Amino acid sequence: MDALEAMETCTAMRYFKEEPVPKAELEKLIYAATRASNPGNSQGWEFLIIDDPAIKEPVGEKVLAGMAPFFEARPEGRDGVEERMLVGAEHLAENFAKVPAWIVCMARKVYPPHDPQESFMHSTIYPAAQNLIVAARAMGIGTCFTTFPGNAEPEIRELCNVPDDLHLFVYVAVGYPEREFMAVKRKPLEDVITWNRY
Ligand SMILES: Cc1cc2nc3c(=O)[nH]c(=O)nc-3n(C[C@H](O)[C@H](O)[C@H](O)COP(=O)(O)O)c2cc1C
Repeated sequence: MDALEAMETCTAMRYFKEEPVPKAELEKLIYAATRASNPGNSQGWEFLIIDDPAIKEPVGEKVLAGMAPFFEARPEGRDGVEERMLVGAEHLAENFAKVPAWIVCMARKVYPPHDPQESFMHSTIYPAAQNLIVAARAMGIGTCFTTFPGNAEPEIRELCNVPDDLHLFVYVAVGYPEREFMAVKRKPLEDVITWNRY
């Protein structure tokens, strides 16, 4: 599969088989992530891989408790795509501990060295996380970017002894897909391109 095809079919996967993803495959995803462009090649990223049920279970309980009011307030009558996304997100939160691995993409505030800025942490971590999910797709592994586990950040920090200077940005669910990958649905190019002048 070439890179473009992987991007075209890299749908957020919220349904996973329980089969573990081998350590070498998870490390390959981090290899892909760390090939990304980043500010001044400062590489202020780190990746916490959580596959231990003794961590996933208590974190999953906290995540679900935090998300319950959101899911209960879920409005009726949304269109098909949005409804599917919300149902999928709820499934993922309910099955947090059964997801084979969670990769927490983190960054340190290190760039530029003379005056480190928060915005450069975002510039560091998102290209890397995108590399990770596209590589996973090409390897037949499903992923879903999530931010909702952020409500369990204190528990994750404590259970995983995360150093204080690491900032947690995005939590990527990783596993073999239980559903088909599909083509992503995006705006047509004519809606997003301007040549030279508006
Ligand atoms: C920064 C970021 C945060 C996201 N957070 C969540 C999340 O908390 N839960 C979730 O189920 N999906 C999350 N997503 C996935 C998006 O909802 C998904 O990519 C979008 O709906 C488009 O769907 P597709 O990628 O399958 O085409 C997130 C995506 C990004 C980039």
